[in-house]
Order: sequence, then structure tokens, then C-alpha cells
Amino acid sequence: MTYAAITGWGKCMPPSVLTNADLSTFLDTSDEWIVSRTGMKERRISHVSSAEMAVVAAKRALACAGLEAKDVELIVYGSCSNDEQVPNTASGVQAAIGATKAASMDVNTACTSFLYSLSTATAMIRTGVVKNAIVIGVEWISPFMDWDNRNVAVLFGDGCAAVVVQATEKQEGVLGEQLGCLADARQTLRVRGMGTAYVNQGVMCGDTSWDFDGQEIFKRAVQGMVQASQAVMAKCGVTPDDIDLVVPHQANQRIIDAVVSRSGVPMDKVMLTVERYGNMSAATVPVALAEALEEGRVKPGALVLMPAFGAGLTVCAHLVRWGERVTPLAESDAALPATNKTALQMIQAIRAGKTNVQERSGEGLQRPRFIEQM
Ligand code: ACO
Repeated sequence: MTYAAITGWGKCMPPSVLTNADLSTFLDTSDEWIVSRTGMKERRISHVSSAEMAVVAAKRALACAGLEAKDVELIVYGSCSNDEQVPNTASGVQAAIGATKAASMDVNTACTSFLYSLSTATAMIRTGVVKNAIVIGVEWISPFMDWDNRNVAVLFGDGCAAVVVQATEKQEGVLGEQLGCLADARQTLRVRGMGTAYVNQGVMCGDTSWDFDGQEIFKRAVQGMVQASQAVMAKCGVTPDDIDLVVPHQANQRIIDAVVSRSGVPMDKVMLTVERYGNMSAATVPVALAEALEEGRVKPGALVLMPAFGAGLTVCAHLVRWGERVTPLAESDAALPATNKTALQMIQAIRAGKTNVQERSGEGLQRPRFIEQM
């Protein structure tokens, strides 16, 4: 039987740090509130596009796997903040790295996009459609953020990581997954102004404001991730004692605590990045996975559980068996261009460019009729 082992990994984190103190300069918030409610101390803000981060992460993952770009057969680009809708962003990464033989697709399930992309690539490898793939989780969410809404602005950050997946006869890679969507809760998180639905209201695409019911998302996220984790463990015939490492989506430290304690895995088996990076949506799980490998927390043959949720509300949990190799075969010298801008300067530029978010919030922008009905 063919499996799809993860053989390469690489992250690309933008260097500019936005602290809780920075947020307090333009929002009515505090370090104490953010840390106590979310566990977040800082997050990164990118000075380059998501595709540029993805190219660096992909080159690093390829070097790690010892695979050449010309031999890549598939690129799956998981994100909800794509640079463009047409052409897709995966094709831009393909062109930049020279993966001339690859098929390329974008997948958007919000924060779960990387894991849904991993499922897609794994399924195509296991059914013999392709022999290998680059799977990317990336988010440049700062240009779409509603920076004057403290309910959401403190929670998110930018980042990217990629993995290489390759066909093998060994029982490695994704052993099983549970995918689902709590569509009755889709109204709890909506970014208004990111699609054609708003064009007939005179809203510029990208001039966003967020609907966000944090408490309802919190509750549904915990239930969804616990159920998905239990379902995938049952499907694969493993118990919490068999899990060596949990790499969860990191939207809030308290959500992780609740999911992990209800899943029966001890906290010392959990990889955490939320304090340093906040919620990077699709990039969160692959960045945490790459850092777990860098820190030596993934041992040869380890069983890794990866539960996540995102807008939709999409939920999932993946069970991955790691192979023997936990170190890179080689390292790429790919890197982002330097910047002399601070994260706060970049945020202030984005805020200045958003013309009417505050007026629209005050007026209560009406949703287009067809979305109201969904
Ligand atoms: N600073 C200070 N006060 C704030 C802030 C802030 N940044 N944000 C909200 N508040 C205030 C509110 O105005 C409210 O005040 P009020 O009681 O006077 O009306 C109060 O704090 C809100 O308190 P709670 O709702 O009790 O806060 P809670 O403990 O629920 O934490 C939070 C809010 C952090 C948003 C939490 O609900 C949460 O994490 N939810 C899930 C969010 C999430 O996961 N988002 C990602 C979604 S999917 C994806 O990953 C794309």
C-alpha cells in the first residue's frame, strides 16, 4: 500500500514584531487583557506578500527533503488571504521556484487550510495521481485585518511554513484524519469586504470589517476539535497514551488547554507558539510543526496529533506517523528581503489606507441578501 510521508519542512517568519504594547498605542486594550484572555504576547507582521513568504518556505522544505523543484508534481497552497483569485497563488509559487512539472491549486478553509491541503496532497499520492507534493500553509492577514476592532485585531499575525510529502511503502505520513464543518455556526466569523458579495454596496475589495462572535467560536472550536481528535484516534485504533506530540491550531491558549485536557493528553506533549506568533490562521500548524522539529521534539517514529478549526466553522484532526529522519538533508539559503519598517509603522499605513471601515461599522453595513439567507 502507498503512504505519503512528510520528508521536508521549512518555515518563513517575517521579522517585524508587533507587541501588545504596540497594539495599546491605537486600541483600547492592554498587555494584561491580551495575555490573560489569549496567552499572546506578540505576533509578526509581513512586509512582503504571502506568495513571497511561501516561496522561501517551499525552497527550505525542498532542501530539507532533498527534492529538486523540477521534480515536484503538485503544489497545494492553503490560505484564506490569497494575493490574487485569478490566477491562483499556487501557480505564482510554482513559477518562482521553477516547478515546471507541477499541478498547482489553492485551498481555502480558513485556519484549517494547511491541514485540508495536507489531506488533498496525501489522497492524491496514495491514489497514485502524483508521487510528491509541496503543501503550504500561509497567511498575510494584516492587510485584511479590521485594525480598529479590538475584538479581533489583537488575535492574528502573519507567517508561513511548508512541508514536502512523498510516496512511500512505509506506513508513514497521515494515517487518518477527521474533517468536518459546523456550517450552522458560519455566521460567527465573517470577513466582510473580501469578495464579490460586497461590490454592489460600493465596498472596495480588501476594505474589510469583521463579524466575530468570540465566545461562540471558542465554545464550538473546543467541542469540534475534541470530537475530531477522538474520532481520528478511534478510526486509527490509538489511545491518548499513544500520542507523542500534539501540534494544535493556536487561536487561543485557553482553547488549547481545554482541547488537550478533554482529549486526555498531558500538556507537556503539546507544542505551543501562540505566545510568540498569535493566530496565523493556515500557517499556525505547519509553523508549530517546523519549530517542533527544529527543537528536537519530534522523535523518529513519533505519532503526532494535529487538531484545528477555522471559519466555516471548519474542524479537523490529523494523525501523522513520522518517519526515521527528523533532521533536514540540506538547508536552503532562500531568505526574505530585509525591511527597515517596524510592524507598528506597517499597521499604521494599512489603517491609513482603509477609508471607511469606521463609518461603515457605525452605519452597520447591511449584508447582501443572498448571504443573509445562508
Ligand atoms: N482588549 C480589552 N478588552 C477587550 C478586548 C481587547 N482586545 N477585546 C474585547 N474586549 C472586551 C469586550 O469589549 C468585552 O467587554 P464588555 O464585557 O464590557 O462588553 C470583554 O472584553 C469581552 O470579554 P469576553 O467576551 O468575556 O472575553 P473572552 O474571555 O471570551 O475572550 C476572546 C475573548 C479572546 C475573543 C475569546 O472569546 C476567543 O479567543 N474566542 C475564540 C477566538 C478565535 O478562536 N478566533 C479565531 C477564529 S477561527 C480562525 O482561527 C480563523
